[in-house]
Amino acid sequence: MKFFIDTANLDQIKEAQDLGILDGVTTNPSLMAKEGITGKQNILDHYKNICNIVDGDVSAEVISTDYKGMLKEGEELSSLNKQIVVKVPMIKDGIKAARYFSDNNIKTNVTLVFSAGQALLAAKAGATYVSPFIGRLDDISTDGLGLISEIREIYDNYGFSTEILAASIRHTMHIIDCSKIGADVITAPLKSILGLLKHPLTDIGLENFLKDYKKGN
Ligand code: E4P
Repeated sequence: MKFFIDTANLDQIKEAQDLGILDGVTTNPSLMAKEGITGKQNILDHYKNICNIVDGDVSAEVISTDYKGMLKEGEELSSLNKQIVVKVPMIKDGIKAARYFSDNNIKTNVTLVFSAGQALLAAKAGATYVSPFIGRLDDISTDGLGLISEIREIYDNYGFSTEILAASIRHTMHIIDCSKIGADVITAPLKSILGLLKHPLTDIGLENFLKDYKKGN
């Protein structure tokens, strides 16, 4: 199971990388804007900075919504660094672009996926990753984890190699549930990843071990 961090914040990316558990990064235009990264050149430079921190895949999203624009943008993004994965939206031109990039050995992440049918199309187009947004489904009283299970079943039925990248993760339990279902990748905020560390019995146990050690010294 791969762990990606879902942020454009360089400090948080470094912290996750230093933990030794990070396999990659996902970003989107909203996450870039949140860090105050605006304007094409600044955004491209920021992707390069992210690639310099991590070893794994870094998803960089196209802004174009037409096929030709996506190809131009995607090729520019992928030329920045071999770690770049071109993120395309789950629309008709996005699927066509995913097929083009797949045929040209450029990795893709089909984003904004909310149904099994959309995930099936992404796999047929040869996408490297498909990103179902589980938190946004939960937000509208729809079963986000249920969608991950459906996609897992469909991909396993046919041996699709597209990796299920569970996105829009809101909390630590989402990560654990995704691992039980068999998502290939989760992308989560640092807080949700660090939540996996926590258990009060660990803290109490450690405190007692240290107290007992001091008694004998
Ligand atoms: C995934 O690639 C997206 O960047 C992200 O997971 C969206 O999450 P949100 O619903 O918290 O914005």
